[in-house]
Amino acid sequence: MNFNRSIMNVSAIDSSVILIVDDNPANLDVLSDFLDDAGFEVLVAQDGESALDKVRYAPPDLILLDIMMPGIDGFETCRRLKNDAKTADIPVIFTSALADTVDKVKGLSIGAVDYITKPFQQEEVLARVRLHLKLYFLTQQLAEQNTLLEERVRERTAKLNQALEDLQTAQVQLVQSEKMSSLGQLVAGVAHEINNPVNFIFGNLVHAHEYTQNILEIVQLYQDKYPDPDEDIQEVVEDLELDFLVEDLPKLLKSMQVGAERIREIVLSLRKFSRIDEAELKPVDIHDGIDTTLMILHNRIKAKSNRPEIEIVKDYGDIPDVECFSGQLNQVFMNLLTNAIDALEEERDSGQPSHITVRTRCVGSNEVEISIADTGIGMEDMVRSQVFNPFFTTKPVGKGTGMGLAISYSIVTEKHNGHMECRSQPGQGTEFVIRVPLFQSQYAEPQHQEQTV
Ligand SMILES: Nc1ncnc2c1ncn2[C@@H]1O[C@H](COP(=O)(O)OP(=O)(O)O)[C@@H](O)[C@H]1O
Ligand SMILES: [Mg+2]
Repeated sequence: MNFNRSIMNVSAIDSSVILIVDDNPANLDVLSDFLDDAGFEVLVAQDGESALDKVRYAPPDLILLDIMMPGIDGFETCRRLKNDAKTADIPVIFTSALADTVDKVKGLSIGAVDYITKPFQQEEVLARVRLHLKLYFLTQQLAEQNTLLEERVRERTAKLNQALEDLQTAQVQLVQSEKMSSLGQLVAGVAHEINNPVNFIFGNLVHAHEYTQNILEIVQLYQDKYPDPDEDIQEVVEDLELDFLVEDLPKLLKSMQVGAERIREIVLSLRKFSRIDEAELKPVDIHDGIDTTLMILHNRIKAKSNRPEIEIVKDYGDIPDVECFSGQLNQVFMNLLTNAIDALEEERDSGQPSHITVRTRCVGSNEVEISIADTGIGMEDMVRSQVFNPFFTTKPVGKGTGMGLAISYSIVTEKHNGHMECRSQPGQGTEFVIRVPLFQSQYAEPQHQEQTV
């Protein structure tokens, strides 16, 4: 295919290359002379085989092909041209003295574009040759433009799909962060409201304890000094089971104190977790964040009717405070820990010990590494390679959104310029390893904050 010519334009027709194949030298001379005069570049061949060789060596733009030739005839030559992808598109015009229709039909059915009978009418030959060259070039141009168009359509479609995906991700992230922030506000509000009354109870329990102690002392003293009170008093003492009351009251107060302390801890955790007042970068104790998250997840960790408590192994290294958005990092710990608990619950039939190991350590002088590993079901490679994709979930509808890890990944890599990776094997448990820099100031340039997943 003469590519350059075809993308130029059809006015290049008159300098096209034409191959004439005819076993009769006289015919060859006549044809080549006037086509040459008309401006074409003319090549000649005297039989089918040498024509095929020439075509392979230097493909012409059009072939005038005699039918009756020694060796392989014109039909066979044409068939071979059409069977080769490299030469199949070159237009072939049969030339023959045989003017009968069967041959014309046969020629056209093999793939020729036209048929010219001998003796030649020069004007007719010229007109047909020009027509077919024009068609040939136009077809080529069309095909090229089609390919170009298809390519463009493909590119655009891919871009649109990407844009759509980005939009969906952004939307879900927005919804998610909106949800987290309103949840955070709610939690912070509730925690704040509970905080005062709890402190009230907690603070007064000390006095309540002291006062009851005093009253009990007085009662004791009365009993010592007046071992034989009158009947009315004795009756009430028996009715109220004073002995039991005296013994039980301090225990009761003690358990109220334990309960109040527990509420205080939970409130503190909730406040730390939501960290509504700490929306900017601040150096924080990562261990504190992990511990408060674990505290909030206590209900899911503790023993259930169908399984024992999940053991949490803390292997905390000696790490300094990390400059970060602590509410966001807590959200990452929350996602990783809930996934780990889910994975352990799937595994529960195996009888393996269920534990989650949380490890922290310094890496070099500028980074900390946090690893959260479980002994749960683990993942196939197919799953592992997709866990950070938005919407990827293997959990039933309603249980999983597939956004936990996608959001965690963007919090770690984009918001904190860190790394996050997943190591897992089916049946071998899963480990997520996070690395974040100790300081964010070195990443102050805006382009670092605008990257997308
Ligand atoms: N610790 C883990 N063990 C096994 N599979 C996990 C673990 N964490 C995540 N996965 C897999 O990654 C998928 C995506 O997790 P995530 O983004 O948190 O979405 P979701 O929990 O809503 O499914 C999960 O559905 C699960 O198949
Ligand atoms: Mg999840």
